[in-house]
Amino acid sequence: MKRTAIAIDGPSGAGKSTISKLLAKEFGFTYVDTGAIYRTVGVYVYRKGVPSNDAVEVEKLLPEIDIQIKHIGGEQRIFLNGEDVSEKIREHIISKYASDVSAIPAVRAFLLDMQREFARRDNIIMDGRDIGTVVLPDADIKIFLTATDEDRAGRRYDELKAKGQNVEFEKVLSDMRIRDAQDSERAVAPLVPAHDAIQVDTTGNTLEKSVLILKNLIAERLK
Ligand code: DC
Repeated sequence: MKRTAIAIDGPSGAGKSTISKLLAKEFGFTYVDTGAIYRTVGVYVYRKGVPSNDAVEVEKLLPEIDIQIKHIGGEQRIFLNGEDVSEKIREHIISKYASDVSAIPAVRAFLLDMQREFARRDNIIMDGRDIGTVVLPDADIKIFLTATDEDRAGRRYDELKAKGQNVEFEKVLSDMRIRDAQDSERAVAPLVPAHDAIQVDTTGNTLEKSVLILKNLIAERLK
């Protein structure tokens, strides 16, 4: 049976994961957060004490990494070699590790099939950076979410604060700009909108407003 796939790409903090989760619930689709997969590789590399930009050493670790995603009570939980690392992957330091390892071609190749397998099994809403361009170029609907740097850093800052992490806004903003540049300028699967993606700017929107815009847009196209 043909599955429906909705790709939601964009830079960090544009609201992809929060919005995608709510949309998945609304349409009864499975939500897949692909950033979590890169973050899980980041956690492993971090724990091994390997520099995350050392492509040769990082590649050597890949055969030791088993990643499983389980949907428990509608929530995506992610397991690294059997350990639930769903909270660990959200630590600020891991964002840098994830961004670094995601620029390594062997890492992207290692994770590609895992991501495609989700789309074979279920109707999905998948968020990431290259879902519409590389992972699922035939996705039924492609959305590229953006917002200003300040708006995006503000959301990331609020999220980290809410989790009790001790961060400063200026640091979150500057770290985010570095990661964005790195994600956009890397040679493999850079962060760029697919030519057939619908671009939506969420700057200044409440969550409810962004969800409503996307809900209408998707409902219109699924008719
Ligand atoms: O969405 P996020 O911040 O959790 O993603 C963490 C990192 O993973 C981000 O710096 C870019 C990378 N990533 C990627 O390269 N491709 C994806 N499909 C998803 C994330």
